Amino acid sequence: MGYRAFIASGLLLLSNSFASVDLYSQIEIISEFEKLQPHEEEDISNFTATVSGMQRHHANKTQGKNILRAFHAKSHGCLKGHLNVEKNLPNNLSQGIFIRGKTYSTIARFSNGKGLIEADSALDVKGLAFKVLNVPGERLLKLPSYIDNTSMDFTMTNNPTPLADNVSEFISLGTKFEAKEKEGKSLATMSPAEIKELISNDKIYKLLIDRLVKRKVSTLVTETFWSGSPYPFGKNEVGAMQAAKWNVTPCDEGHKASTSSASQDPNFLRTDLINYLQKKDLCYNLNVQIQNNKITQPIENHLTEWKESETASLKIATLVFKSKENTNFEKQDSLCEATSFNPWNGIKAHQPLGNMNRARGEVYLNSFIYRINDANFRK
Ligand code: HEM
Repeated sequence: MGYRAFIASGLLLLSNSFASVDLYSQIEIISEFEKLQPHEEEDISNFTATVSGMQRHHANKTQGKNILRAFHAKSHGCLKGHLNVEKNLPNNLSQGIFIRGKTYSTIARFSNGKGLIEADSALDVKGLAFKVLNVPGERLLKLPSYIDNTSMDFTMTNNPTPLADNVSEFISLGTKFEAKEKEGKSLATMSPAEIKELISNDKIYKLLIDRLVKRKVSTLVTETFWSGSPYPFGKNEVGAMQAAKWNVTPCDEGHKASTSSASQDPNFLRTDLINYLQKKDLCYNLNVQIQNNKITQPIENHLTEWKESETASLKIATLVFKSKENTNFEKQDSLCEATSFNPWNGIKAHQPLGNMNRARGEVYLNSFIYRINDANFRK
């Protein structure tokens, strides 16, 4: 499917009624290390409803009342690119879509983490999602016909782990922050004591302060992005499924932001991307971190970081955004807004693993359906 077909696939959703679509029932557990949570199916269907509630609430706060993504609503740029798989990949790294020397077209979207459009200076995670087009391999799920089912989507944030062990904790944290937001409070305006009161788990509190409060992002060019959750990556020497996490590291570590984060520009991250791409190609390394210890690097319990000291990341491909192919940010935005990046748009060789991933397929699809129906209804 080419770039234009993505826009067309979004436009096919013409009904403005919202009925939640079930994907969860198609998912099979494929690793003995995946663990079903009690009441998982019921919980996930409830979370889908919670997430659309968040979309409605945020829509009431945004200009025009548009329904946006439940998370990662603000885009810094939608870029056309290429994924160039390493030419000399050793056998153990040439797995699934990573065929030696192969080049794929990609579409990428950089984002802030919240479901609200705020200034880039607001304390928030940053996201990178990219769609690798026309990948070979058996598809994961039967998706509704209006969803492209030929790509493989990677979704990452600039944190090595999500701020939760499982989906219930993730939604609970999101709901707590939303309740504070309704009182007019945000991470930036709450005192450490108030944040501590909100987050009883010491580990999550510390990570949140270190990653979001103390650390400011002034450019996306030098950020590292992690999948935070595992995916199969071939078989090990005894023929058992091997799990891995992805990360994306910058090629140009020396870049200094072209606009100051203290400037009046609320979209300084986008401005910096535009300035960068006017001068040169933007590039990142795609790396894989293969699990080598089932206890210290669990499949579930996503709060546990897989340490580089235990398994170093290995480069498998380069993600390149050419300057000459990314000249009109405004026009390209429509490409990403009309599409859905979902970890379950992919192939069986890289099936998303773990409770949090099992929830994401259905939740992302329904977030997409809700916002795209709303956009069509407004046309
Ligand atoms: C490892 C954990 C996770 C990572 C790395 C991650 C990353 C991302 C990224 C990068 C996006 C933006 C995609 C885009 O640009 O379209 C996104 C969107 C989204 N995320 Fe997550 N996420 C994680 C977990 C979750 C969980 C547990 C939930 C809730 C169950 C969730 C709900 C959503 C929703 C609803 C969207 C918007 C989907 C759409 O409307 O297209 N995420 N996530």
